[in-house]
Amino acid sequence: MLTARSLRASLALALFGTAAARAAQLTAEQDHQRLMDLLHIQSLRKGADGRNPNAPNAANYDESKANPYPTLPDPLVLKNGKKVTTAKMWWKQRRPQIVEDFDREIYGRVPKHVPKVTWSVTGTDRETKASVPVITKHLIGHVDNSAYPSVKVDMQLTLTTPAHAAGPVPVIMEFGFVWPPGVRRPAPPPGPPGPSWQEQVLARGWGYAVLLATTIQPDNGAGLTSGIIGLTNRGEPRKLDDWGALRAWAWGASRALDYFETDKAVDAKQVGIEGHSRYGKAALVTMAYDPRFAIAYVSSSGEGGAKLHRRNWGELVENVAGTGEYHWMAGNFLKYAGPLTWNDLPVDSHELVALCAPRPVFISAGSVEKGDGWVDAKGMFLAAAGAGPVYRLLGKKDMGTTEFPPIETPLIDGDVAFRQHSGGHTPAPNWPTFLTFASRYLKGPVSSSSSP
Ligand code: GCU
Repeated sequence: MLTARSLRASLALALFGTAAARAAQLTAEQDHQRLMDLLHIQSLRKGADGRNPNAPNAANYDESKANPYPTLPDPLVLKNGKKVTTAKMWWKQRRPQIVEDFDREIYGRVPKHVPKVTWSVTGTDRETKASVPVITKHLIGHVDNSAYPSVKVDMQLTLTTPAHAAGPVPVIMEFGFVWPPGVRRPAPPPGPPGPSWQEQVLARGWGYAVLLATTIQPDNGAGLTSGIIGLTNRGEPRKLDDWGALRAWAWGASRALDYFETDKAVDAKQVGIEGHSRYGKAALVTMAYDPRFAIAYVSSSGEGGAKLHRRNWGELVENVAGTGEYHWMAGNFLKYAGPLTWNDLPVDSHELVALCAPRPVFISAGSVEKGDGWVDAKGMFLAAAGAGPVYRLLGKKDMGTTEFPPIETPLIDGDVAFRQHSGGHTPAPNWPTFLTFASRYLKGPVSSSSSP
């Protein structure tokens, strides 16, 4: 007789396959507790409550309380106290120190051996978008899973380029949002009237791509034994300095760039990365770690992205260290939500921005009034300002100011750029400003008919 229990058991078997995979299948709460045990931590401080302003732990939006730890680690001082005075010292000594700190304590390490990715075009559409004839390729990046067949990773990417380009074109790639079935999310605030970002990119003669992040790595703690992290760990849970989802998503973006290097429609030296919110964090991590990306548009990335961890405004380290978001980070990150403090972090986000130098980065936020206070626009501005000395050392221009500007002031004359738009939690209003900034760097092919 088929009892409810045996039905559940066979369902579990069908869902999780092998016994090994079944044994490792933890909920986010269980996996989070496992990391706390490994770290010998009894409890973490509570995150800020962004919903209830009367809660005892209500998110802070008062600038007079925002800077409990005003002294940031100096990006241009070596661990031994010596000042970094040359570009060579930055590349050979200081930058690797900063990378090591981010790897170990914040985002986790990409394993030495990640299986090979094979890209294939599964379909091609020819259509006209905003009066531009385009070709869209649908691609799957299959990760070799012969070593652990019960985890399958097939990354989904689309690439759209002008059909009649005079040569390879610059491409802006976005981390695309797809929510799992059944998950309800509030609709993003409506963008300003006018062309979509894709149409704006096409109008410049460039192409665009969309990479579905959750096809690289699921966006939850229970998913850490699947996706590319689970595949490389053969279904086992993570070590404390193993990569989290942000680095996994960034790894996927780098594999997409590998594909672009083989596609004649794309100028792979002129590929930009864009992402919003959690994918704004991923876009910044992508840019920081892979020097092949030419430019980044980092939208409303907040805590875990461009916001200084040392700032008390909106979302905090403690929120990201909680069960709903810890999977973005390395297990070691939990320490800084208790017993350690934000001030114990060996690096802060201005140094993540500095890892992008000398390449151009645009940091974006919306307004507090329209609901984007959570991401701490000023904390992200201060990180962009704090990266300035590294840009200058490498012969580039900083933002030109360390004073937080009035809303809607574009600071785009340097190589690290910032603008707070007056919309809500959305990248849409800053696309025109980003593309103006980007057009100083990215150049489409010149057709022979348009040359004099
Ligand atoms: C939450 C989370 C943020 C994240 C955002 C999103 O608000 O606290 O860190 O950026 O979700 O990605 O939508």
